[in-house]
Amino acid sequence: MKVDVLLGLQWGDEGKGKVVDVLTPQYDVIARFQGGPNAGHSLEFNNIKHVLHTIPSGIFHPESINIIGNGVVIDPVIFKNEIEGIEKISGKISGLLISKKAHIITPTHRILDAASENAKGNSKIGSTLKGIGPTYMDKTGRNGLRVGDLLDENFIEKYNNLKEKHLILLKQYNFQFDIEPYETQFFEAVKMLLSFKLIDSEFEVDDLIRNNKKILAEGAQGSLLDIDFGSYPFVTSSNTITAGACTGLGIAPSKIGEVYGIFKAYCTRVGSGPFPTELFDETANKLRELGREFGATTGRPRRCGWMDLVALKYAVMLDGVTQLIMTKSDILDHFEEIKIATAYKVNGSITDRFPYETDALIEPVYKTFKGWKTDISKINNYKDLPIELLEYISFIESETGVPVKIVSVGPDRSQTIFK
Ligand code: GDP
Ligand code: IMO
Ligand code: MG
Repeated sequence: MKVDVLLGLQWGDEGKGKVVDVLTPQYDVIARFQGGPNAGHSLEFNNIKHVLHTIPSGIFHPESINIIGNGVVIDPVIFKNEIEGIEKISGKISGLLISKKAHIITPTHRILDAASENAKGNSKIGSTLKGIGPTYMDKTGRNGLRVGDLLDENFIEKYNNLKEKHLILLKQYNFQFDIEPYETQFFEAVKMLLSFKLIDSEFEVDDLIRNNKKILAEGAQGSLLDIDFGSYPFVTSSNTITAGACTGLGIAPSKIGEVYGIFKAYCTRVGSGPFPTELFDETANKLRELGREFGATTGRPRRCGWMDLVALKYAVMLDGVTQLIMTKSDILDHFEEIKIATAYKVNGSITDRFPYETDALIEPVYKTFKGWKTDISKINNYKDLPIELLEYISFIESETGVPVKIVSVGPDRSQTIFK
């Protein structure tokens, strides 16, 4: 059985958590393959609202197996809080497996993230300050600590060696910090992490594939935050595209099946960096308020704007998307007119390619659609959706060449329409 992948096609927060939770009953296994607690994946069901950071969004279905893959970076302190939060809702967790090759975020990684952002001043990335960049730097720099190292009797020595390197680096920054409280929590949390089953995820996943188990790989962030293809340097530090599922779980490319690409019916972005269709007017405020566009991890207000087909087609191409999922369609219920950018004017010339230059002067070329001005949040059948929305969807399908198979019309599990 091939592995399906679900990932974000924009700048994150497309509603991955909600949709993975909805799809979990169709799968045996949900596996995260990259990112870390920079992610905030929100789920809503039975009047419960919950945000996950490191743990796959299948966790509220007790029959599913959830895997944290080698490509993920784990902060034991955030992981411990997450476990405690989930167990309050659904009791003791079973069936959560963690790759021994996943890297550990240490207290000094978080401090380095903050110090680096502080030093960048106005050109800061706007990172989530969770230590993501420094942890992946240590991974590729071959200095990192992995979950498997926690089992090593020399773990403390390895930890202290890395900490010493970090303290030398931190001397270059004029940055005040106090590591003590972080460290106490860190070692407490490490003990809890060790109570879970640590695995060689590549072998485990291969066994599951051979046993015809259905696996869904859950992406974090979004394709436009990819370290290689996003608007560098305003990106995260992992490969967020489909290829990341191969390296982040140990799956051969030939084993990838369906690729679900998820996008909001409009666009948002948190942190710095280009956002061609960003709006600064009343429409932006309306999208932000109606869509409750405030970060699930940091609480920051999200930048808002219209749907961007140039960016969406770029992500569809990079990810090899086979099915599209549109979320937050209900937020557009309240607009007379809805716009989609179909091309960019970059330094005076029209293009439908996502530009290399992050500082290029980009002017979106818009197509305007009539709004439906109807409450769609209680609709269950695709054919009952308003004609104006069906036209909006058809246009996206014809431009991307990929069918929209799911339309999400509210944050709850139940507010999901399958075509
Ligand atoms: P993720 O990071 O991709 O999992 O997305 P987030 O959870 O960070 O942000 C998506 C937000 O939109 C969350 O608050 C969800 O509860 C909410 N949401 C998801 N789908 C819908 C939808 O179709 N309509 C509405 N109104 N909210 C949605
Ligand atoms: P989910 O999985 C939205 C953004 C940050 C910043 C940049 C780099 O919930 O969609 P990092 O902490 O990774 O070094 O920050 O990436 N970012 C996200 N934006 N959703 C996320 O995750 C994000 N994870 C990171 O705001 O601009
Ligand atoms: Mg999020």
